[in-house]
Amino acid sequence: MLFLIRRLKMKKTSYHHLNRIQAELLDKAEKAMKMSYCPYSGFSVGAAVLTKNHEIVAGANVENAAYGSTICAERAALVSANAKGHQRDVIKIAVIAKGKNHPSSEITAPCGSCRQMIFESARISGCDIEIIMSDPEKENVMISAISELLPLAFGPNSLKSPS
Ligand code: THU
Repeated sequence: MLFLIRRLKMKKTSYHHLNRIQAELLDKAEKAMKMSYCPYSGFSVGAAVLTKNHEIVAGANVENAAYGSTICAERAALVSANAKGHQRDVIKIAVIAKGKNHPSSEITAPCGSCRQMIFESARISGCDIEIIMSDPEKENVMISAISELLPLAFGPNSLKSPS
């Protein structure tokens, strides 16, 4: 029997233990959270992506009366980065959220669709994108990587025929 032992990259930390770049990324995500348009859920989400040349592009969730047309903050940040020419150089993403029924100590992790899109960015950027997830107060922070949040992912290689 073959056992695969993978070392977990997931780390629980706090804002004060983040390095300068991680803290700045989370600050920008928090700022973007204020741009959230969420009249239906009342749940504001902000995200910020960091590119290889250390540019930061942020986004917020934008809801729609046709609920399914809503875009999450992480995907808003990624498409905005794409529009700025950063489709292949995303290395980190931070996410933070606030809602009236959301406990102030609970971190927000990207939803399944966002994980899928982060995975594609990771593949084309050639790196395992780091994901920084925070509670609304920036007290509890979790750091992980897309390979850990979306194991056995379906990605660009899944569409290639075997050579
Ligand atoms: N939302 C995000 O922005 N990111 C996620 O990863 C999860 C959910 C938004 C979508 C919707 O506007 C609100 O949170 C409630 O689901």
